[in-house]
Amino acid sequence: MKDNRIVVIGAGGHAKVIISTLLELNYKIVGILDDDPIKRNLHIFDVPVLGSVELLRSGKFEQGIIAIGDNRIRKEIADKYREFCKWISIIHPFSYIHSSVEIGDGSVVLAGSVVQPGVVIGKHVIINTSASVDHDCKLEDFVHIAPGVHLAGGVLVGEGSLLGVGSSVIPYRRIGKWSIVGAGSVVVNDVSDFITVIGVPAKPIKQG
Ligand SMILES: CC(C)(COP(=O)(O)OP(=O)(O)OC[C@H]1O[C@@H](n2cnc3c(N)ncnc32)[C@H](O)[C@@H]1OP(=O)(O)O)[C@@H](O)C(=O)NCCC(=O)NCCS
Repeated sequence: MKDNRIVVIGAGGHAKVIISTLLELNYKIVGILDDDPIKRNLHIFDVPVLGSVELLRSGKFEQGIIAIGDNRIRKEIADKYREFCKWISIIHPFSYIHSSVEIGDGSVVLAGSVVQPGVVIGKHVIINTSASVDHDCKLEDFVHIAPGVHLAGGVLVGEGSLLGVGSSVIPYRRIGKWSIVGAGSVVVNDVSDFITVIGVPAKPIKQG
């Protein structure tokens, strides 16, 4: 029988969504780990915060999921504790994901999302509430597609990039690595690495 016990890393707002999704999928959540001492006595849906993320080294937690929306922090934890925990991926029962879609360890597809044929999803990717990812898109590791984002067909999103809530990308555009597309923006041109773009059409944010 499949082991359905799991530990959740992170006790913020995104964790609430992940925990509710795990409960829909009948996982048994053994606890939450978070480094913030203020969260030590917190419960999310009756699931207690057990202590800091370092507890992963105890070897007591075989399966886990990193429920932290920040892409850099998710990567830091995934890299640091990779040998202590098997990261699992989850798909909300009220989402549509075509059978041809490849999905990497630690990634999540949340309620109301649609992921069309030929999409490749890397590791620790978040496809958040009611996002749509159309045919043949490629999302590299640690990408976050925020709620209500629409990606047209053939879009590439480079490692660690965030597409802000409600943004859209027209077909076959490339978003670089560790970049940010502002909320509500529309990407019509390729976006380079390590920049923030905003607006309609999306343009690099002015510094200072
Ligand atoms: C783009 C973004 C990262 C910029 O954040 P920031 O660097 O802190 O920038 P600021 O808030 O200081 O804004 C800088 C300027 O850009 C404007 N701006 C910020 N975000 C914008 C957006 N999405 N669209 C249009 N203009 C925007 C601000 O009004 C401000 O303009 P001003 O200089 O004329 O006053 C942020 O606003 C954003 O959209 N984040 C996405 C968050 C999100 O969706 N997260 C997912 C949660 S699940």
